[in-house]
Amino acid sequence: MTENAKKLTFVLVVAVSLDGKITNGKKEGTEWTSKEDQKFFKSELDRADVVVLGRKTFEAIPRPLTPRNRIIFSQSPLVKGVSPSAETGVVYFKGSQTKLLTLLKKMKWNRVVVAGGASIYDWFLKNKLVDEIYLTLEPVVFGSGKPFLKKGNFGGNWTLVSVKKLNEKGTLLLHYKK
Ligand SMILES: NC(=O)c1ccc[n+]([C@@H]2O[C@H](COP(=O)([O-])OP(=O)(O)OC[C@H]3O[C@@H](n4cnc5c(N)ncnc54)[C@H](OP(=O)(O)O)[C@@H]3O)[C@@H](O)[C@H]2O)c1
Repeated sequence: MTENAKKLTFVLVVAVSLDGKITNGKKEGTEWTSKEDQKFFKSELDRADVVVLGRKTFEAIPRPLTPRNRIIFSQSPLVKGVSPSAETGVVYFKGSQTKLLTLLKKMKWNRVVVAGGASIYDWFLKNKLVDEIYLTLEPVVFGSGKPFLKKGNFGGNWTLVSVKKLNEKGTLLLHYKK
């Protein structure tokens, strides 16, 4: 590896309520998060070579994270009538871990932000691909909504790197590494 070569790094970014939900139970989307978290999320996207999203998250955002490179997980080659060639920077993916690693290598995408939703967090953690987690804890309780993770074997311990209080109402940004 040359000095300039970047290491492949998967960074999972998620915002959760105090009861571990990633949606507020009423509406799809992440509009419920604080503006400080949204600012942090944008800064992580700016550092990334590519962002991975599930098809439902992709559709829940009005104009999803353009103009960044995006890999959309979907079993279907067409999402919302948009063909892969019609939108710059969007790649549709339905393959295995090996295929994903091959794609990332081919595109020279090294810093990968795993941006959800729940099924995408599941897939990356179960495949033991995630190197870092940024978890924003928002001081709200929803009672219903989608949990961050379903049941399963996610394995492994994480080391706390930092805790940052993002605002006066008490939003916390937790950074963990493998
Ligand atoms: N709080 C947060 O930080 C945060 C972050 C992200 C998203 N969210 C919220 O989470 C919700 C969506 O989460 P979700 O779990 O329901 O949906 P999702 O993960 O966004 O998308 C699920 C879809 O992704 C595709 N998919 C999943 N695993 C796949 C695999 N292994 N191979 C190929 N395709 C695969 C399938 O698409 P097809 O059906 O097309 O095959 C599946 O229906 C939204 O409301 C979103 O706003 C919250």
